[in-house]
Parts: sequence; C-alpha cells; structure tokens
Amino acid sequence: MRKVSPRSDTPKPSLPPNAELRDATSADLDALAALSIEVWLDTYALDGIPDNHARHVLRTYSPQAFAGVLQDPDKRLIVCRTDAGLLGYLQLDLEAKPVQPGSGTVEIETLYVRRHHQGMGVGCKLLEAACRLVRQAGQPKFFLTVYEGNEKAIGFYKAQGLIEEGRWTFDFEGGSAPNLIMTRDLSDAGLKTD
Ligand SMILES: CC(C)(COP(=O)(O)OP(=O)(O)OC[C@H]1O[C@@H](n2cnc3c(N)ncnc32)[C@H](O)[C@@H]1OP(=O)(O)O)[C@@H](O)C(=O)NCCC(=O)NCCS
Repeated sequence: MRKVSPRSDTPKPSLPPNAELRDATSADLDALAALSIEVWLDTYALDGIPDNHARHVLRTYSPQAFAGVLQDPDKRLIVCRTDAGLLGYLQLDLEAKPVQPGSGTVEIETLYVRRHHQGMGVGCKLLEAACRLVRQAGQPKFFLTVYEGNEKAIGFYKAQGLIEEGRWTFDFEGGSAPNLIMTRDLSDAGLKTD
C-alpha cells in the first residue's frame, strides 16, 4: 500500500452547528456500514480497489456486524450526525485482548470521519468522548493500531497526545499491512478531555 498523504494547510472549516454526538442505535446500522466502506476504501485503496480489499470491507462492515457490536456489552459505538446524516463514528472495546504486554485492555477499534467532514473537529470530539468513557470505566490508558503509511491519522493521533508504543501486523484476506501501536495514558496531567 502506498502512503496516505497528510492534510494540506487550507483554512479549517468548523463543525456544522447541528452536529451531535450520541450513542449509536439500530437506526444507524446502515449508515455505519456505508460510511465504513467509504472511508476504508478512500483511505487505503489508493490505486484502485483490489479484490481482497473489496472482500475485506464487504465482509467486515455490514449492518449485521454493527448490530452485533451494539449487542456486545463491552463495546461502545459513538456516532457524530447532523440532520443530513452520519459524519463519522468511533468504536471502542473496553475489554480488548492486549495487543502487546502493557498495552492495556481498552482499544479504539475504529475512528472514521468522512473525507467531506475531515478537519472540522469531528475526530477530536469523538476521541474526547471515548476518553471520557475510558476514564468512567476506571481504565488508565487505551491503545489503537494504525497503518504505518497513514501519515494523516498518525499526525492526528500524535496531536491528540498518543504515543507510538510498538508495531503490529494487520492480516486480512490474504494481505497484510504493517501497523503502529499507539497508546494514550489518561492518568497524565493536563488532559484535554475534561
Ligand atoms: C484521522 C481522522 C480520524 C481525524 O479526524 P478529523 O475529524 O479529520 O480531525 P479533526 O478535525 O478533529 O482534527 C483535530 C485536530 O487534530 C490535529 N490534526 C488533525 N490532523 C492532523 C495531522 N495530519 N497532523 C497533525 N495534526 C493533525 C489538529 O490539531 C486538529 O486541530 P486544528 O486543525 O485546529 O489544529 C480522520 O481524518 C479520518 O477519519 N481519516 C480516515 C480514516 C482513518 O485514517 N482513521 C484512522 C485509522 S486508525
């Protein structure tokens, strides 16, 4: 996979005034699946849509799969929506298998914002909401994994206080992608989440 370019230095648009963050419900399942496929392919399938990428998104991001997430007591799904529809979402696992020793057991499994709504603060708001949930669960840190060529997301995560803490390989549909493990220690002073 080739690298995902960082954002350009254009003026920052602001969050739509009617944007709201809330827990996902069954009414969001179709939009969650559609947005996930859109963002995944937009982010990673830069030279065309390889067959294994198509298989991966169609098998992973179905309304039925998101219905399963809603039923899972350890998972949380937060959506950002306006009257016009879904802009982005975050999926959290509060009882995740540690990705490596010391990574902790809370994982941000997915943080996706549509390209049309990136750079408006949606990702930041979703991450802040996740930090609140992690702290409410009494957990001191969380981890996530991110493709090492996704410079834009890595830049965003570093700006939000995450640090690189190791490497991991994402295997999917006969392909693999080198990932960074990034973590954030929420017991640090000076959090932006309060
Ligand atoms: C990465 C992603 C979640 C960021 O969400 P976003 O809504 O675009 O980000 P925000 O507008 O909330 O950015 C908030 C702040 O993060 C920082 N930031 C964002 N992108 C940055 C970058 N590339 N480099 C450095 N800082 C960055 C800035 O401080 C920004 O605020 P500022 O512009 O006022 O300084 C989003 O771009 C996305 O969904 N990308 C595609 C999918 C993806 O890669 N997801 C992560 C996979 S692990």
